[in-house]
Amino acid sequence: MADDFMPLLGWDSIEFWVGNAKQAAYFYEHALGFTRTAYAGPETGVRDRASYVLEQNDIRFVLTSPLREESEITRHLGRHGDGVRDIALTVPDATEAYRQAVQRGARGVSEPAVSEDDFGTIETAAIATYGDTIHTFVDREDYAGPFKPGYVSVSSNGSGGGVGLTNIDHVVGNVELGRMNFWVEFYERVFGMTNIIHFGDDQIQTEYSALMSKVMSDGSGKIKFPINEPAEGKRKSQIEEYIEFYGGPGAQHIALATTDIVAAVTEMKERGFQFLDTPDSYYDEAPGRVGEIAEDYEILQEHKILVDRDEDGYLLQIFTKTAQDRPTVFFEVIERHGATTFGEGNFKALFEAIEREQALRGNL
Ligand code: FE2
Repeated sequence: MADDFMPLLGWDSIEFWVGNAKQAAYFYEHALGFTRTAYAGPETGVRDRASYVLEQNDIRFVLTSPLREESEITRHLGRHGDGVRDIALTVPDATEAYRQAVQRGARGVSEPAVSEDDFGTIETAAIATYGDTIHTFVDREDYAGPFKPGYVSVSSNGSGGGVGLTNIDHVVGNVELGRMNFWVEFYERVFGMTNIIHFGDDQIQTEYSALMSKVMSDGSGKIKFPINEPAEGKRKSQIEEYIEFYGGPGAQHIALATTDIVAAVTEMKERGFQFLDTPDSYYDEAPGRVGEIAEDYEILQEHKILVDRDEDGYLLQIFTKTAQDRPTVFFEVIERHGATTFGEGNFKALFEAIEREQALRGNL
């Protein structure tokens, strides 16, 4: 598009700031099948942090821990616990992306900078989004190294192997009551995204609580950012629970795509990953709601995989329990069959499943 002022080539990486990256890396390798590909830390000349790069097909996670008390990462951890710091996006020109974003009202976090090593040059710049979360723009076209200058390649340590996760599908943000539309407008104005679907609090609610959600998408549909906000209810919304324990808005879940969700979930369960439960009553009405699909409904029920459809096709989804002790970040596994957006039935099922967990935690 000639008027696409913010072309996005894809997801570059998701960086988590965590308390113990060495141990977290082991978890993502073993429970999610990631392969360790690069490392930066004191041994590579980085003095204040240690970072592990983990990959599975087109998914790249970076896990970073601080080494000292005087560090923005240490302050971030005190406030938020383990969580997503950076949702990094690959762009054709990081300087231009930054210039466009800041001109459209985004707050700059890191000015455009080029770093270089024997593998070439990489250009990055970063802007702020909700809470303390940032988007780094990365232009790695002229870079052939393992990740970025400062990182060294590490050979596989025998773990990983993959569970069939192929790429990032979407990253969801939780924001405060009354702030959803602010961030919807932010992604419209700064990124040129459009709102592709909207769920109201009349749709996503239980007897006790509710939420509202709008899904923002770039023109290609590759990058999707759903934004949730709590809605007024009799009791505390799960989005408020997240915000209370995260110490503000932040990334709620990361959806990872697969072409065989049954195999991926089976493998993840064997590796010890825990998923949210779905009541059998969900499967009583699922065939009537969704219609004919290639999969066997009984197998989906056995694995507690959710099924829904939009105008273009159907989708299969399952959600993990939270990945750390604070009731904050979790993961989704998604298999799309034509569907490009989301369905109300699964959104409601997820909401109800989290509310059951919330009640177990004594936070409802
Ligand atoms: Fe999702």
